[in-house]
Amino acid sequence: MVSFEEFINIKFDFKDIDEKNPVVGNRDIFWLYHEVVKILFNALNIKSLLEVGPWDGGVFRTICGCKYKPQIYTMVDSWGEQFLGVVTKDYSHIDKIALDLKYPYELDKITGDSTIILPKFIEEGRKYELVLIDGGHKPSVTSSDLFCGWRLVADKGLMVVDDVHSRYLHEMYKETMIFYLQHYKEAFLIKDVYYPKHPGCFIFMKNP
Ligand SMILES: C[S@@+](CC[C@H](N)C(=O)[O-])C[C@H]1O[C@@H](n2cnc3c(N)ncnc32)[C@H](O)[C@@H]1O
Repeated sequence: MVSFEEFINIKFDFKDIDEKNPVVGNRDIFWLYHEVVKILFNALNIKSLLEVGPWDGGVFRTICGCKYKPQIYTMVDSWGEQFLGVVTKDYSHIDKIALDLKYPYELDKITGDSTIILPKFIEEGRKYELVLIDGGHKPSVTSSDLFCGWRLVADKGLMVVDDVHSRYLHEMYKETMIFYLQHYKEAFLIKDVYYPKHPGCFIFMKNP
């Protein structure tokens, strides 16, 4: 489990970041979400991860270079969506990254719509120490991912949500936060990770 003390002491400080020479993911741009993932997996021994929307494997590639790697790593993506001019048809590129970077554990790669897959995971009683949400950005998909994702977080686990400050998602995220506060019994702590000009992330901790 993630320790509250370890988590709360992590510094999300990007002042030394060289945006022109990013060292994470596989893009030639600074990507705040990947930096956050890198900081978390270098600081915390997170053993199980659910990643919604791995796309071309930027998060996976980042984790491959980190101190700690999850032994249980589930990825869910419908694939086929064009994003930044790249279409990922299936997860063959993920297998290639795993091979090239010698990922030491098996990967659980699931192809499908997260709004259907995540409720099944809840029924199965799955729990993860970390859930990453960056899949479909349509409000119906994002809200389902947020609610289902949160139910899949283990006690004292974390959920990281990307793009929370992007203009078109902001209102919906605000509504979701209010819903959480009103309807969920579990306490949660939110860290807001922001960097100028980037659509920041929220990190939630369950029952801190
Ligand atoms: C913004 S990209 C993800 C970027 C990636 N997280 C990264 O950091 O490099 C969105 C991804 O979500 C996937 N996606 C979109 N709608 C989805 C859905 N309903 N279920 C599962 N995956 C979905 C797309 O195929 C795409 O790979």
